Amino acid sequence: MDITFAAPKLPSSGAIVTGVLAGKKLSPTAASLDKATGGAIKRAISASRFTGKKGEVLHLLAPPKIKNSRIVLIGLGDPVKLRTLDLENLGGTAAAKLYATGETEASVAVDDLQKLPLEAAQRAARYAYGARLRSYRFDKYRTKEKPEEKPSLEKLTFLVADPAAARKAMQRLEGIAGGVFMTRDLVSEPANVLYPTALVARAKALIKLGVKVDALGERAMANLKMGALLGVGQGSVRESQLLVMRWNGAPRAKGEARRPIAFVGKGVTFDTGGISIKPAGGMEDMKWDMGGAGVVIGLMRALAARKAKVNVVGVCGLVENMPDGNAQRPGDIVTSMSGQTIEVLNTDAEGRLVLADALWYTQDRFKPRLVVDLATLTGAIIVALGNSHAGLFSNDDALSGQLTAAGQEVGEPVWRLPLGRDYDKLINCDIADMKNISGGRGAGSITAAQFLQRFVKDGTPWAHLDIAGVTWSSKVQPTVPKGGTAFGVRLLDELVARNYEA
Ligand code: BES
Ligand code: MN
Ligand code: ZN
Repeated sequence: MDITFAAPKLPSSGAIVTGVLAGKKLSPTAASLDKATGGAIKRAISASRFTGKKGEVLHLLAPPKIKNSRIVLIGLGDPVKLRTLDLENLGGTAAAKLYATGETEASVAVDDLQKLPLEAAQRAARYAYGARLRSYRFDKYRTKEKPEEKPSLEKLTFLVADPAAARKAMQRLEGIAGGVFMTRDLVSEPANVLYPTALVARAKALIKLGVKVDALGERAMANLKMGALLGVGQGSVRESQLLVMRWNGAPRAKGEARRPIAFVGKGVTFDTGGISIKPAGGMEDMKWDMGGAGVVIGLMRALAARKAKVNVVGVCGLVENMPDGNAQRPGDIVTSMSGQTIEVLNTDAEGRLVLADALWYTQDRFKPRLVVDLATLTGAIIVALGNSHAGLFSNDDALSGQLTAAGQEVGEPVWRLPLGRDYDKLINCDIADMKNISGGRGAGSITAAQFLQRFVKDGTPWAHLDIAGVTWSSKVQPTVPKGGTAFGVRLLDELVARNYEA
């Protein structure tokens, strides 16, 4: 779908989208259309329950006296209260109403309303961004879909007084949307297609944006003594990989700002549980157990596309967790790159083993300013927080605050949970330095985070996002279709933009 911006002249064909304020108050464009149609808009509103509340939609098909195919009214509520996130949601909602109507072209009038917190060009770009985000579709394997069943909308034009300014604002947002779409593609791919080396090959698409992409195979990781990560992958015929991506957007930065920000992702391309095998029901969901890695890759793409002025590394531990004659057994003891030993009491608690070595490698090799890891780590986080907030764990209040604020801003909220000595003790072990599960029944997400913290060096600000509940969505949201959400890409892009760019 093409998204363009043009000066505010209403087209004489196709669909027109325009706003109505709370209390059925027509926007200037809606008022002029009402006149042109002999009062059809006001009549339609009074024949319906539409009041102009934020997010409400009303369609008028074949409006009288004009040639346009339809008018779509969208409720703006009290426009003074519209935040950027509300505008994105309105754009997503409005566009979704048009995608599958048979309409091929639509125009959205963005009126220059007085006293709004954002100027019209910025508002137009946010609307457009919302429409773009909602337009995502993973349909590459639907070979029998008829054209008349596919989304019809080809061109969406935003009418705004300063189209050039809107275009410029949108360019940056298109970069972020490109990262979001890449992440959604990656988490949607099945595990027979997307295994560790295949994921590395996908990440290499970032090279043309200026990202350096390298990968370590099993031999290289064995030389680095990454026994925790390698143990997880040893039952798979697919070779494990450590993916390393670097974006040096601030090459002349000095001092502290020169050191990179590090993002580390769990990339289990399929999690059967291994010998501690999972039940069959719902196991197909474990194709998206590489969601953390998917976010790190999409984030690198977003940062590179918008040429973020910051140095960033993205490191992903990529493995497939399979039962096999050569698979790791419950009770095996592995030695991690850090030198610490781990008794693997449950082979299904594999994400923390992968991250242990990926985190250590990242700190050892890059001496980052801070580390944020993302992982679909525990089912317990879904019990605690459901599907709207990601779990946040951190050793640093400032970083936690930044993540919480960024999440609020972009609509990817996080909720902090505690860490502490008493939880840490639960993974002490009699015959190794630690065990990979507590064995008790409570605080499953916290003990997983405590495990990770044992691989964070003193003095490194670190945050862990448990995204198991938010990586895949079974219901549509205004800017997120069903399926892979890419939760984390917009959040971390915002974290960087607000706090770490030169
Ligand atoms: N990948 C799973 C966690 C998960 C569950 C992600 C549901 C998304 C949806 C993880 O590797 C896992 O299996 N965790 C176990 C840990 C347990 C064995 C301590 C879990 O949550 O049951
Ligand atoms: Mn598992
Ligand atoms: Zn897993």
